[in-house]
Amino acid sequence: MKVSFHVNGEARALDLDPRVTLLDALRDHLELTGSKKGCDHGQCGACTVLVDGRRVNSCLSLAVMHEGSEITTIEGLGTPENLNPLQQEFVSCDGYQCGYCTPGQIMSATGMLAEAAEGAPSHVSDSLTGKAELSDAEIAERMSGNLCRCSAYPFIREAISRVAE
Ligand code: FES
Repeated sequence: MKVSFHVNGEARALDLDPRVTLLDALRDHLELTGSKKGCDHGQCGACTVLVDGRRVNSCLSLAVMHEGSEITTIEGLGTPENLNPLQQEFVSCDGYQCGYCTPGQIMSATGMLAEAAEGAPSHVSDSLTGKAELSDAEIAERMSGNLCRCSAYPFIREAISRVAE
């Protein structure tokens, strides 16, 4: 089955088995291995990418569902020589330890900060409304879909809060 979308601003066309997930299409067919496969069941967030600006667990989503979409992966945010502000703050705050969850954390935070700026409700709780400035507890709740086995959570939240200010 053919599917065409843009990945990190580049037009890509694939001929895929319709059962292939977006995560496997990115990693195995487009060689974009920054998005990680942790649980493959929508529970860890390591595979988070943006689809049309919204956070998606790419392990739960079939690639062929995204015809015409704009997909952004960690490779589309910055380069090792030119990190984007959030990537830079993760470095400054030691917002990672083993690093496996980091691409998903950064992609999720990127989408979350955009949601907050738009005033969109948290995907976790309708009681939260977006603010320009997010409390530590709000960041924790909005990022609760991204697990860090090393428990670098305080450093991750600090990195995010620096960009949110
Ligand atoms: Fe997708 Fe864990 S690999 S949520």
